[in-house]
Amino acid sequence: MGERGDYGREFVLDGPMLARVAAEKRTVALDVGCGEGRFCRLLQMAGVATVGVDPTEALIRRARHRDPGGDYRIGRAEALELPDRSFDLVVSYLALIDIADVASAIAEMVRVLRPGGTLLIANLTSFNTASVGDGWTRDANGDQRFCIDHYLTERARWTEWRGIRIVNWHRPLSFYLSLLLAQGLTLRYFDEPAPSGGDPERVARYARVPFFLIMEWEKPPA
Ligand SMILES: C[S@@+](CC[C@H](N)C(=O)[O-])C[C@H]1O[C@@H](n2cnc3c(N)ncnc32)[C@H](O)[C@@H]1O
Repeated sequence: MGERGDYGREFVLDGPMLARVAAEKRTVALDVGCGEGRFCRLLQMAGVATVGVDPTEALIRRARHRDPGGDYRIGRAEALELPDRSFDLVVSYLALIDIADVASAIAEMVRVLRPGGTLLIANLTSFNTASVGDGWTRDANGDQRFCIDHYLTERARWTEWRGIRIVNWHRPLSFYLSLLLAQGLTLRYFDEPAPSGGDPERVARYARVPFFLIMEWEKPPA
């Protein structure tokens, strides 16, 4: 990821995610599934202290290497070794699709949030994760179409990203929303952000099909 991230992060998600962070005063944030810690460092630049948690040791090693003063811990979202009500912002940046027991993970994210705090989520949309293969196919006229199937069926699938094999989960949007609502959270913001620049071919591709969503959920004030 480096410091700029890939196209989707740099030109689609970072801008609106950071705008949400700036919309309110935040003191201390937890990034669950922080990877190399890139978004932790962006949060720090915005004046927010951070803790990053990720189970992948190589990524945590890289995060510590890039940010020796930072707080990066090996851990799983499903069992956060952190006290209740200790963060005013919890971030999940393209991590829910990677987590097997997402119900426990969301419950844990809410547990460590202070009352009135915010859970800020960027995820692949469920319309995207339901794709057949990479989604792109040609119709009878030879035009490119994006194809999805078995939308309502939760499933894991192996995928490869820049030579790294990973398991990603498809779940319908209602699956995530039900879990978040069951935690008593209130949806304060929702967006399917459009690309803001970069290679025009990429802009057209990312604007053509459902790609990312951003949601901001508030934990009820005490
Ligand atoms: C697509 S990456 C996103 C990483 C980072 N947030 C970013 O935007 O670059 C998904 C991350 O989720 C992490 N992950 C996988 N299973 C997890 C779990 N059970 N709990 C927390 N993080 C997990 C992976 O190690 C990986 O770093």
